[in-house]
Amino acid sequence: MTSDALQHTVAPLVYIASTVLFILGIKDLAKVRTARRGNAVAALGMLLAIVGALLELGLIDYRWIIGGVIVGTIIGAVFAIRVEMTAMPEMVALFNGFGGLASALVGVSVFWLDIEQAHPTTSVADTMGGAQAITVALSIIVGSVTFTGSLVALLKLQGRLKKGQPILLPSRHVINVALAVAAVVLSVWLYRAGADTAWIPCILLAVVSLVLGVLLTIPIGGADMPVVVSLLNSYSGIAASMAGFVIGNVLLIVAGAMVGAAGLILTQIMCVAMNRSLLNVLIGGFGATEASGESGGSSEYKNVKSCGPEEAAMVLETAESVIIVPGYGLAVAQAQHATREFATELEKRGTKVRYAIHPVAGRMPGHMNVLLAEADVPYEQLVEMDLINGDFADTDVSIILGANDVVNPVANKDPSSPIYGMPILNAYESQSVFVVKRSLSPGYAGIKNELFEYPNTMMIFGDAKDVLQSLIAEVKAL
Ligand code: TAP
Repeated sequence: MTSDALQHTVAPLVYIASTVLFILGIKDLAKVRTARRGNAVAALGMLLAIVGALLELGLIDYRWIIGGVIVGTIIGAVFAIRVEMTAMPEMVALFNGFGGLASALVGVSVFWLDIEQAHPTTSVADTMGGAQAITVALSIIVGSVTFTGSLVALLKLQGRLKKGQPILLPSRHVINVALAVAAVVLSVWLYRAGADTAWIPCILLAVVSLVLGVLLTIPIGGADMPVVVSLLNSYSGIAASMAGFVIGNVLLIVAGAMVGAAGLILTQIMCVAMNRSLLNVLIGGFGATEASGESGGSSEYKNVKSCGPEEAAMVLETAESVIIVPGYGLAVAQAQHATREFATELEKRGTKVRYAIHPVAGRMPGHMNVLLAEADVPYEQLVEMDLINGDFADTDVSIILGANDVVNPVANKDPSSPIYGMPILNAYESQSVFVVKRSLSPGYAGIKNELFEYPNTMMIFGDAKDVLQSLIAEVKAL
């Protein structure tokens, strides 16, 4: 086969196959049962994408590519192996940032190569073509905003930047609008500049966009960071798509657009599940009281009843149906295996056990699904909120493991509550409710949970894993 045929016939066909695999992979990822296959299918699509790109490029010097693949693979593997499940959002934030930076660098490098060879007075638009000059500017803007925005998100998630609290600069909206206008003006300058001076608007554009990324993200509170990370993920896709236009690679345009759209849809789903508008998230300020300890402290509770694992086991002895509600604390305690073992013990006694999955339980989309899948909990026992909410009233016992906000009835009642309107799991409707957590400290929203004072609720204080191990022993002894 001639190299011309490889470049112009085989490579586009490989690209189409790769695109189809990406679409099928994303479809599979939407369901827990097929998520693993989805990951493998998308990875195969990625492999085909690389093969297609190499075929399209023809005979090139592979040394830099191989070096890049080795270094990238080592860094990626080390990160993926070392990361704790609870630190996943941080890792995603960092990788989004790298994606944005890579797209901006692709834009700058193509621009640089073109203007270097051009006549000094020929404009960038005439040298590269108008459409390409515009996409260079866009890839620098979106890629740089994504890069610094993601780094700020990472520091906030780690609590290293003002403990994740919003940083509200005076006149921040005016400053942000001024920077956005400056970015547009610099893009026009870049488009029209002669090849000899075009580096000036290019560098200024990158600097303005990097600053914009920081300023857009610092006013957003830690509680909203996962939403922002999802939005930045969408931006990184848009930046990749722009880079695809710059280098004329169809697959990069398509794959970037898919990431952009998927990130945006996920952002929307998370906003709906938290009952926040995207604008409200982006304007920032939510969560300002979270770390101040002003609300939700133990002093706010008057009628809390608590018990130990032994008493809980006595109630469980007669329970025919149990719903387990996992939350962020379960991930912190790494109690997924103990949860599974506990459920198995109950099932041995003929109890029907299911898990109620809230869409924003934990700290990232699908957090509870991933956690419980790690312990081989059967998928059919994981029931989405909408499907299980009607069953709580007919359930003997609900056991809430390290969850808080997602079961707080105040979300249904009090319009002044920050979580008002967020759909919750109606665990309070069960005959008995056991809440396993270490103290009366609030959850992510930083507010009191009135479920803890309900007459049918018993608190079991302690680390989720320790409590579960005691419960397993007690149930075995029944
Ligand atoms: P939270 O409301 O955050 O509550 C978690 C509870 O776990 C805490 O009250 C904590 O109480 C307890 N805990 C921590 N470590 C524990 C341990 N070792 N053993 C036992 N308990 C432990 O969790 P949730 O109900 O899952 O709600 C998630 C929150 O995060 C929601 O407000 C949601 O809007 C927000 N959020 C989620 C997402 C996604 S995508 N999942 C994104 C953004 C925001 P103690 O300290 O007393 O133990």
